[in-house]
Amino acid sequence: MGPLELYEKLTEQGDQVRALKTAKANKEEIDVAVQLLLKLKLEYKQVTGQEYKAGCPPPENLVAPDNGPAAAAGDNDDDDDDTVDPWNVSTTNAKGVDYDKLIVRFGSSKVDQELLNRMEKVAGQKLHRFLRRGIFFSHRDMNQILDSYEKQKSFYLYTGRGPSSEAMHVGHLIPFIFTKWLQDVFDIPLVIQLTDDEKYLWKDLTLEECNRFSMENAKDIIACGFDVNKTFIFSDLDYMGASREFYRNVVKVQKHVTFNQVKGIFGFSDSDCIGKISFPAIQAAPSFSNSFPQIFGNRKDIACLIPCAIDQDPYFRMTRDVAPRIGYPKPALLHSTFFPALQGAQTKMSASDANSSIFLTDTPKQIKNKINKHAFSGGKDTVEEHRKHGGNAEVDVSFMYLTFFLEDDDELEKIKQDYTSGALLTGELKKILIETLQPMIAQHQERRKQVTDETVKLFMTPRPLNFKI
Ligand code: TRP
Repeated sequence: MGPLELYEKLTEQGDQVRALKTAKANKEEIDVAVQLLLKLKLEYKQVTGQEYKAGCPPPENLVAPDNGPAAAAGDNDDDDDDTVDPWNVSTTNAKGVDYDKLIVRFGSSKVDQELLNRMEKVAGQKLHRFLRRGIFFSHRDMNQILDSYEKQKSFYLYTGRGPSSEAMHVGHLIPFIFTKWLQDVFDIPLVIQLTDDEKYLWKDLTLEECNRFSMENAKDIIACGFDVNKTFIFSDLDYMGASREFYRNVVKVQKHVTFNQVKGIFGFSDSDCIGKISFPAIQAAPSFSNSFPQIFGNRKDIACLIPCAIDQDPYFRMTRDVAPRIGYPKPALLHSTFFPALQGAQTKMSASDANSSIFLTDTPKQIKNKINKHAFSGGKDTVEEHRKHGGNAEVDVSFMYLTFFLEDDDELEKIKQDYTSGALLTGELKKILIETLQPMIAQHQERRKQVTDETVKLFMTPRPLNFKI
């Protein structure tokens, strides 16, 4: 389609969406129309290099921009107020970010029932609750990973964390809890990158502080139960300097990405330091198996699967764009939603606000007080009203937390029904959450205590892993 034709189609589709919304059509019908609208907008942007604006047709003598495949993907859309990039996550919607729209905007794929069925078959066991409940909701190339796994071709896992402080909160555990499950189910090696260099570049911290946070965070990560024979944890500041292969991959990526491309993907500006501009190459490198010769020898063709929160996707869109050009397979991805702040799903939790989340160091009493005081409630103001009209589980943070941590599906469903009908009060819902989190955090603290400096050293020493190709 040409620019003008696209413009006209877009205008028509916009009218259509408005008409459906005014007519209060059913949600699915509206969703389908919105998805088409977003697709058209993306296409329009790619073709014209401009945002679509109603009433402003494209200029006649338009020159199509050359902004690379990933450039349009991070753009914000007129209709939605969601911002999602590695440094900002926000929305004005109390239910949280609209994840279906994000899939369209980022060009990833939905983890649909068909994929879930297939994963369950290949895994040979019930899927993790994060998959059953749509928490890992989006992916890239998951089917390829399963195809090769079924042909006895193995793969490895890569995930990471930016160590910005000593304090980790429950939300930080989501990718690690899930990665541990994947490691157990598929029996495969795992590399975990601690980007202390990234935090030094972005925050007002010294190199030594960031490096120390790496070691402290490594203890919380190890406490998730990873198998030391199959897991390599590394700090960029330490490993990158010591591994010629890793650094060679960083440099290869740096040679194949232009400033224009990182500007488009990450929004860097002329006044950002050059460290930030080249950092994405460092987060890309662990996606390639030959960055870890001690584990994979010189094999460069071992497939990589990256479980991460969706805000990290820009890094890996860039990585996937570069990979074939430097002779490597593209990494596959599984993306999670965000863990909401106690105050509501509009933002991701912040490690700098003690009341925005439950920290892994919180005492049972702190957990109880924080939830009772700060967890945003979808309940009604008075008991009478609540009994009469019921609560709104969709915006209720205590309920959202239970979807992450309560294992039993039937119990969760019953809680939802009772809360929605008004049979279950906010205080009672909060009590269930408190009683779920208190033992979970206490057990984490117990396991973390067992992690000695020696153990950390073991996990962080470059060495062969127990791995059959
Ligand atoms: N940039 C991430 C953060 O700030 C850390 C990270 C590095 C990461 N590599 C990763 C996260 C791979 C997920 C997957 O937290």
